[in-house]
Amino acid sequence: MGNIAPTLDTAITNGHVVTETAINEVDVGILNGKIMSIASPGTLTADATTVIDAAGSLVLPGFIDSHVHVNLELGEYTTTDSMVDLTRAAAHGGISTVLPFAIPNQGERPLDALARRRDEAAGDAYVDYSFHGCLTEATESNLDQIPELIERGAASIKAFMVYEDRLMLNDGDLRAVMGRTADAGGTMLIHAEDNAIIDHLVEKHRKQGDTTYTAHGDTHPPVSEAAAMWTVSELVSESGCPTLLVHASTKGTKAIVAKGEREDLPLAVETCPHYLTLTSDVYDRDDGERFICSPPVRSSEHRDALREMVASSLIDIVNSDHCGYTTAQKRDNRDDITQMPNGLPGVETTAPLLFSDGVVDGSLSIHQFVRLMSTNVAKLFGLYPSKGTLTVGSDADIVLFDSDAEWTIDARSLHMATDYSPFDGRTVTGRVETVLVRGETVLDGELVGNPSVGEYRSRDSETAQKQYRTL
Ligand code: URP
Ligand code: ZN
Ligand code: ZN
Repeated sequence: MGNIAPTLDTAITNGHVVTETAINEVDVGILNGKIMSIASPGTLTADATTVIDAAGSLVLPGFIDSHVHVNLELGEYTTTDSMVDLTRAAAHGGISTVLPFAIPNQGERPLDALARRRDEAAGDAYVDYSFHGCLTEATESNLDQIPELIERGAASIKAFMVYEDRLMLNDGDLRAVMGRTADAGGTMLIHAEDNAIIDHLVEKHRKQGDTTYTAHGDTHPPVSEAAAMWTVSELVSESGCPTLLVHASTKGTKAIVAKGEREDLPLAVETCPHYLTLTSDVYDRDDGERFICSPPVRSSEHRDALREMVASSLIDIVNSDHCGYTTAQKRDNRDDITQMPNGLPGVETTAPLLFSDGVVDGSLSIHQFVRLMSTNVAKLFGLYPSKGTLTVGSDADIVLFDSDAEWTIDARSLHMATDYSPFDGRTVTGRVETVLVRGETVLDGELVGNPSVGEYRSRDSETAQKQYRTL
């Protein structure tokens, strides 16, 4: 009797498979990059070419980071990570899909920025990727490109209310972009801070000769975020444009979420690990410039309020806002808040930080963790259920996670293109062990994949719009 040919490429056995709603002791069978079967323990191994023993691990849907910056040029600085660097670090953090921004260079067409980003990324990604479109100038020509950006799979458009002279849209321009995006069936992501409030305070500090990094928090007060978020909520109400408020940093977010619920607005909120785990004391440190980001890290009152909002599902997703600079770049202009580069590296550390400070400390269920890191992100950006869950037919984007491993974050053993982590020295529980991207193992204790594994994902705006209300 001849051997029966395997019908699965891979079977993952002996693990606890966790989705946004369930946890089961089952085997997962993978064929051609997709989940082909989910079955009782031990029943799939004989059919598989490769068997992965997940004993003692959680088997989770691959995480998705929809807020990462690659080659961001702002002022005199450019972020340090190439697409290869970013996706290598992402894989180590269990992130199987990233969504960077196609930010136009000065004068560049948004469609050309998207094409350029796609060219740069092709063959240079360890994990899957897609791009957000971005408008930094609301000219008629740029506004006319919104439908095509969306058709080409950049179904979400990013806008900044700050970074004057480079990225910022004023309220009138933002309103125009949101209106066109809504009409074209897209969604938006908005950096909401009130530039006029910030400008006024920066000017005041400049006159006082006090522009060192310690002034950063003072020049970006909580009200600057609340005021801008309120404006956005009114523009969402008028346009109906599904919108994600990125990197929420203040307790004031709660009032905006309540307004969104009251008025049934398609408004979602993201926060980041630095707002959940750090406090503004970091700006009193000698190396405080390494923590400069916008909005800034806040007092414990804001941190605790954000943690509560995450625990009660008022905040929908947790992303890194990865934006890597080196210590030298951060130090360069530490005495000039108008010049210093804003942003923190973090794509690799989001999952262990949120697991540790959420699931391990008892404030989040494991299903909430999955929703915040994967399911809700997939839903907001038109990737669900192909990504964001583990079900028959989904992409086999899978993380094996050791929920007991205790380790201390140390930039020297991380993989981002920088020499520090804002979380250096923090001991966390939970570690990514193995990562599969569409069935291909890219991480198995160490990097085993290559940068041709990651594929571009065109995203469908209709799916995203519908799923906005199913979070
Ligand atoms: O400080 C930050 N967050 N830098 C990255 C760009 C942005 O605003 O998201
Ligand atoms: Zn931002
Ligand atoms: Zn950002």
